[in-house]
Amino acid sequence: MDLVNRPRRLRQTPALRRLTRETRLHPAEFVAPLFIEAGRGLRTPLASLPGQFRWSADTVVEEGKRLEKLGVGGVILFGIPARKDARGASGWDPDGPVPQALAALKVACPNLVLMADVCLCEYTDHGHCGILHTTARGAIDVDNDATLPLLAQEAVCYARAGADVVAPSAMMDGQVAAIRAGLDAAGLRDTPILAYSAKSASAFYGPFRDAAGSTPGKGDRKGYQMDPANPREAVREALLDVEEGADAVMVKPAGPNLDWIRDIAEAVDVPVAAYQVSGEYASLHAAAERGWLDLDRATYETLLGIRRAGATWILTYFAGYAAEAIASGRWDRV
Ligand code: PBG
Repeated sequence: MDLVNRPRRLRQTPALRRLTRETRLHPAEFVAPLFIEAGRGLRTPLASLPGQFRWSADTVVEEGKRLEKLGVGGVILFGIPARKDARGASGWDPDGPVPQALAALKVACPNLVLMADVCLCEYTDHGHCGILHTTARGAIDVDNDATLPLLAQEAVCYARAGADVVAPSAMMDGQVAAIRAGLDAAGLRDTPILAYSAKSASAFYGPFRDAAGSTPGKGDRKGYQMDPANPREAVREALLDVEEGADAVMVKPAGPNLDWIRDIAEAVDVPVAAYQVSGEYASLHAAAERGWLDLDRATYETLLGIRRAGATWILTYFAGYAAEAIASGRWDRV
């Protein structure tokens, strides 16, 4: 047959495929989420996140050094405090687990970008991302405007402790503006804000909430996290955050919202991060454990998809794993 067009010609050998490849992954674009708990000498495995741990501020240094050596771009820290209360006051305790870990990593890992998640759900006894009040309708709800100064205070605390980037994830309206103003007033004009702009009320946060003990006691997060059905609203959220001073914006979860990543990357001119969340990581591991899919190849594909959609940075529990796979060259020879 005289077929002129034969796309298979360029697929014949690993070398041809490697040369033809349109998307390549690099360790520098990955950010590893790390859970930090109060205490010393701890490295507690997380049952629903295989290969992930809860670290204390001293032990996390070894993990930071490992990731830095692998060329991973950064880490994002989540705190598990010794005490929780209605206002989440442990969130801005300068002696809390996250500030302590930031201080230790700052010295030990100068080439890692240190990010700190700014939210109250890990610190409140009710597990919501802000403080509660009773609305005019008599419902219990998160009080948006009363939460803003607390988030600003938390961001200032982490920036002072050594965070290179603060990342508000509470989904309160105006949180970026409030944090920018708080940082500026504290003389922290150069601390960038990575805004969790388009974060949906997702079933994929389950393992994270187990790890952080942050499942809301009553109710859900649908009054502040986004409806996953709304791509246009996702763009609006990102545009608002850029207007408020966000230096980078984020989509979360990544896999179910690839269209949001693409739409937002086209609409804004700041870096777009995407968070491959705990449930995405856990479901790949669970299927692989049953022998239903190949973990290595499936991981590679999900990360490629997120990059193709337009993400500049990928927050993923696979950060160290992916950096190792890249260093070994095995994702080059596919
Ligand atoms: C804090 C926060 C959550 C995650 C990141 N920041 C939990 C939530 O919103 O319930 C989830 C990350 C993951 O699942 O890996 N609000």
